[in-house]
Amino acid sequence: MDLEIYNMTFLDLNLIKDNLIKDFDDFWTYDILNDELNNPNSEYFVAKLENNILGFAGIWKSVDDVHITDIVVKKTNRNSGVGSKLLEKLISTAISENFKAITLEVNENNLPAINLYLKYGFKNVGLRKKYYDNKYNAIIMTKDL
Ligand SMILES: CC(C)(COP(=O)(O)OP(=O)(O)OC[C@H]1O[C@@H](n2cnc3c(N)ncnc32)[C@H](O)[C@@H]1OP(=O)(O)O)[C@@H](O)C(=O)NCCC(=O)NCCS
Repeated sequence: MDLEIYNMTFLDLNLIKDNLIKDFDDFWTYDILNDELNNPNSEYFVAKLENNILGFAGIWKSVDDVHITDIVVKKTNRNSGVGSKLLEKLISTAISENFKAITLEVNENNLPAINLYLKYGFKNVGLRKKYYDNKYNAIIMTKDL
């Protein structure tokens, strides 16, 4: 697959904005992503195949730790390696900027995402109770870099 990962631009966001919720996920709205692109501590990437955006992912950088805010692959293109490529880019970005660890929260029911992170060496380090919708627990996962 000739998939390429680039830094997300406002143009990319405008390309996907009308179909964000239908094609990708119900959490990442235009306004949130727009704020993230304006945030100097955040960095977002898109996965593109022949000019089609198949996924995006972001990190938020704190003093000594990088936090993955999300990885989302277009519903029609899941399970074909796009999420892996995006996660590899987040990890290599954090390593190249000398961060020592990369962390995230994931819904304990989100098996595809948990498996993806386990595959890349993330370890389960804790739980945030009722983190999602005041109902579902979040697993905290970390990878030392
Ligand atoms: C999680 C997500 C990003 C994975 O992206 P993807 O492109 O489908 O993942 P990949 O094809 O690269 O798969 C990598 C690994 O993830 C795991 N995985 C992916 N889909 C899976 C599924 N349906 N069931 C179980 N494990 C799965 C597997 O370990 C897989 O490795 P394998 O192919 O060697 O078995 C995608 O399912 C998604 O966008 N989900 C909705 C948004 C979301 O929940 N994001 C995570 C928020 S923390």
